[in-house]
Parts: sequence; C-alpha cells; structure tokens
Amino acid sequence: MKASALLLALLAAATAAAAATPRELADAYAAEAARQSPGFKPSPQRGAGFYATRFAVSDKMPACTSCHTDSPAQPGQHAVTGKAIKPLAPRAEAARFTDPAKVEKWFRRNCTEVLGRECSAAEKADFIRFVTEGL
Ligand code: HEC
Repeated sequence: MKASALLLALLAAATAAAAATPRELADAYAAEAARQSPGFKPSPQRGAGFYATRFAVSDKMPACTSCHTDSPAQPGQHAVTGKAIKPLAPRAEAARFTDPAKVEKWFRRNCTEVLGRECSAAEKADFIRFVTEGL
C-alpha cells in the first residue's frame, strides 16, 4: 500500500471512530511495515534510539530531540523559530497521535528536515510506541 493509501485507510478508520487512538495509529503503521518486511514487530526501544539519533543532514535540527527535547513528555522549543511546542507524549498532551492527517503531515515535514527523506512505516510505528509508552 502506498503512503497515500495508508493515510486514506487511517482517515477512514478515524472518521468511523471519531478519532483514532495512538495505539490504532501505531498498529496501522506496523501493519504497513509488516507488509513491506514480513515479521516486523514495533519496538519502543528502537523508537527511543531513532528519537535520539543525530542525522548528518541539518546543522540546526540534527535530531527529533532538537525541537522535542530529550524527553517527549517535556514541552519543546522550535530550534529555529524558538516557538513553544507542546509535549509529544499523549500522557502529557492528550490530543497527540489522535488525528491521522496531522500525524502524517508532521512526520512528513519533520522527517524530511531531519533525515532528508520521509520516515518509513516501521520508523513511524516504533516512534509512536516509544513516545506513547516510554521505555
Ligand atoms: C525543527 C523542529 C522540529 C524537529 C527537529 C522535529 N519536530 Fe516534530 N514537530 C515540530 C512542530 C513545530 C510540530 C507541530 C506543533 C505541535 O503540534 O505542537 C511537531 C509535531 C510533530 C508530530 C505531530 C504529533 C501529533 O499527533 O500532534 C509528530 C508525529 C512529530 N512532530 C514527529 C517528529 C519526528 C519523528 C521528528 C524527528 C525525525 C521530529 N518531529 C522533529 C517541530 C519539530
């Protein structure tokens, strides 16, 4: 399934249920990752590693932590504009990972800036599991 088809499926699920839960979004990305690489299982540990990885693409924003801080439960700050960013963890900010279109939009934008490419479904599944569950 292409990313756009995945998004449509997520949106359909979200419309039916009014809003998605973080776990439903993580499961949808994990199912997509398993189609690409059979046997894939999401891992909060791998998500934590990804969150902290410094990619050599951008000097100003080398990692997710550059704006979201070392802890997704803490408020962040945009590395360039200085604007405040609410915590990413749903336990600190309940609306997080409940709007599939918003989640896709920011994954696309932030991954492209930090990694120089879009994140894979596997990376998104791991990321959501780490951010929602911690370690
Ligand atoms: C340059 C600063 C910056 C960096 C670096 C950054 N983000 Fe973000 N991120 C933002 C901003 C700004 C928002 C949107 C504002 C908000 O929702 O509070 C956001 C929101 C998000 C959301 C939306 C979550 C939701 O449900 O509301 C996701 C997902 C996300 N970021 C993932 C990532 C990932 C993955 C990385 C690392 C690859 C990353 N971000 C790095 C600035 C950043």
